[in-house]
Amino acid sequence: MKFSNSPLFLGLTVSTLVNGILAFKPPQVFENSKFVRSFDLTGSYVKESIAIEVKNIGDKPESVYYYAVPQGQAESIAVIEGREDKGRVAAVNLDLIEEGDDETGASFYKVELSSPLKPEETTTLQLGVAYTNRYVPTPEFGTQFDSQLFVFEDSRYAFSAYPSAEQVLNIGTYGLQISDLSSNEDPTIEGTTLKYGPFEDVAPYASEELQIKFENPKPLLKATKLQRDIWISHWGSTASFEEFYQMHNPGTKLKDNSFSRLDYARRTNSYNLNVAATRNIDIKLPPYAREPYYTDLVGNVSTSNFRQESTGSLLQLRSRYPIFGGWNYNFTIGWNVDLKFFSRVVGEDRYLLKLPLLEGPEDISYDEVVINIILPEGSQDIDLSAMTPSVPETIKVVKSYLDFFGRPTIQLRYDNVIDNYRRSEIFVSYTFTKQDALKKPAIISAVFVCFFSVFLFLAKIDIGITPKKK
Ligand SMILES: *[C@@H]1O[C@H](CO)[C@@H](O)[C@H](O)[C@H]1NC(C)=O
Ligand SMILES: *[C@@H]1O[C@H](CO)[C@@H](O)[C@H](O)[C@H]1NC(C)=O
Repeated sequence: MKFSNSPLFLGLTVSTLVNGILAFKPPQVFENSKFVRSFDLTGSYVKESIAIEVKNIGDKPESVYYYAVPQGQAESIAVIEGREDKGRVAAVNLDLIEEGDDETGASFYKVELSSPLKPEETTTLQLGVAYTNRYVPTPEFGTQFDSQLFVFEDSRYAFSAYPSAEQVLNIGTYGLQISDLSSNEDPTIEGTTLKYGPFEDVAPYASEELQIKFENPKPLLKATKLQRDIWISHWGSTASFEEFYQMHNPGTKLKDNSFSRLDYARRTNSYNLNVAATRNIDIKLPPYAREPYYTDLVGNVSTSNFRQESTGSLLQLRSRYPIFGGWNYNFTIGWNVDLKFFSRVVGEDRYLLKLPLLEGPEDISYDEVVINIILPEGSQDIDLSAMTPSVPETIKVVKSYLDFFGRPTIQLRYDNVIDNYRRSEIFVSYTFTKQDALKKPAIISAVFVCFFSVFLFLAKIDIGITPKKK
């Protein structure tokens, strides 16, 4: 299964806490004839592709397979998606039932098979899992000349509720400085991949410590927080996007005061912390994005480059300083898009918006994402549906300084998200009468003529595009 190209995206409700099933243990009706795990440690978060050949060893048809994860690991799962390869490919439904069983230390995902599996029959499940915050820089601190080394921990055996006839484990790395701290035996290395197994007759819930230390020559970047504001204006026929990023490099921390600009400039070609620091952040935007801007705490940042191509636009940012391990960088970007690209008329004065949940850089994770969709003043009967449910979601009325009645604002919040949420969308429908559209300029003119006549000209340009916020 090619994780990044998977056509499926099954968002998860990680909040479905089912209490009262503490002693839950899946019935022993399956055997894993073969269980293959492949980790990819070459990104800024960990990806795992899993293929399980599942056999029904019970005496009646079964349609639910329980996929076990060790307790505590479920928190670091940003995405889990799956499909079943049974002659045809079908999406499988995955639902977390939390805190499964204390004795085995397992939480379970309930995997709904596409059709009941008869006794003695087999099917193949393919799962893709993305985990965040699983690399531990070891040592924690280094100088500009040191390599960036990480430790990754998991189990040598796949953790499963069912017995496995055979298991195989592959770990993809950059192929630089690899060691297995948990074993005296060297793993088989093929190219840049570590190979373990095959292990035969592995018992349910078997686990054995695996600690891999490896060099990661790439910068690790994550957003501790992203606030994404989308302003919808019928008056200006524009959707204005503004995003405030709090970026953090969770890689090897630079020893106090050891940053030298000269060495940084000189040594950016060898594998060391200079390479593991970053200044370049690429943001993919829709092809029809226009009027981008990039600011940080100090003000306008001039070192950005904007390229419009038919398949998409690219906003290339160059941060004011290299972002080393342990360092933070905050910035704001914004752009406009014609409303017609997102909006459809679906009834009399009724509109439907289809908005991407995320844009932003590739290969990045987010601890927290807050999305505000700010509808025009006077919008009513608001309906919302998101491919990925938010925790929690609210609709409130927010007044910006130009507003008379305030704008209904939909707020969605996500924890522990990765860049592939860009494939997810948010749908909003609302009623907005033309009368409201006309009312607005009239009201604003009245207010401004009275009090701020000097600003009227400037404000009129701004209102439709990006209301400035303090
Ligand atoms: C920021 O840069 C843009 C484009 O270069 C310019 O139009 C704008 O006036 C600048 N804003 C500030 C506050 O310097
Ligand atoms: C980034 O923004 C956050 C929240 O406003 C603030 O606490 C933090 O100090 C800022 N960091 C930097 C490096 O500006």
